[in-house]
Amino acid sequence: MSITGIDRVTFGVEDVPACRGFFLDWGLTLVSEAEGALDFETMNGCEVRIRRMDDPALPPAIEAGSTVRQVIWSAETQADLDACMAAMTAAPDFRQDGDTLFCTDPNGLSVGVRTTHKRALDVTGTPANTWDRAARVDQASPIYERAQPIEVGHVVFFTDKLAAVTQFYQDIGFCMSDRYPGRGHFLRTSQRGGHHDIFFLQTPDSRPGLNHVAFAVRDIHEVFGGGMHMSRCGHETQLGPGKHPVSSAFFWYFKSPAGALIEYYADEDVLTENWAPRDFEPGPTVFAEWAIAGGIDGVTRRQKQAGPSGPDGKFITEKRS
Ligand SMILES: [Fe+2]
Repeated sequence: MSITGIDRVTFGVEDVPACRGFFLDWGLTLVSEAEGALDFETMNGCEVRIRRMDDPALPPAIEAGSTVRQVIWSAETQADLDACMAAMTAAPDFRQDGDTLFCTDPNGLSVGVRTTHKRALDVTGTPANTWDRAARVDQASPIYERAQPIEVGHVVFFTDKLAAVTQFYQDIGFCMSDRYPGRGHFLRTSQRGGHHDIFFLQTPDSRPGLNHVAFAVRDIHEVFGGGMHMSRCGHETQLGPGKHPVSSAFFWYFKSPAGALIEYYADEDVLTENWAPRDFEPGPTVFAEWAIAGGIDGVTRRQKQAGPSGPDGKFITEKRS
């Protein structure tokens, strides 16, 4: 069976208007809105739903406050969906509603699977030139004024049931990509694909909760351009830009009014059945090869926590007035 990614993420939030502005700045398209309900989508039609947290139609929350209330995964074909059904029927709260199968995972989160509603896209990232291979010839790399995320690429949750949630997702076809033994499992939806679609982290005192929702963009230039735009809009960086040693992705995390953190990322490792999961000891050098705390100021284009680089705060190439 083959699940190909995330089709929809639903948030229950305290402040719907704040989320409206935030996700428009983030680069999502608002496709419909009503009192207490916003339906956004990414470039390929992956849905991001915002609902007031007391909306009675929402599944139960896994934690207090604004957070993810449901994740719906994309099955490639009806046969893939049927294969998931066999694994999901034994899970709590199993039901079929229209074209979607639902149940509750061992972390308490509502999970759905449906044949994908996303659209095939023809978008092009910008390749990097390396010493041995000129992949970009007679072509400058782009500078993005803002990001336009392609899709929700992965979700990350805290759990106190690492073994059980891992087993649940493996039963519906997910594969282990890498591990912090006993503490964290990176899982991808199928053998061939991006490094992880879901990551569970169990710390000694962790309870179920959201850590972040990550949006894939075309290339590292869009990570930087998107982050700089968010900075100019006044949104607060949690960490980034930076680079993860596990997955190799470039990242930029922001604090989100929809709960926890939100991430732009690009250039993650792509794995196949030939990949052997690796074990890592958690620590700062494993989380980030490098990262900028506090982000880059989108106006001065310098890291926020650094002082001016010259006596008048200008780059050496800038015109002095
Ligand atoms: Fe992430």
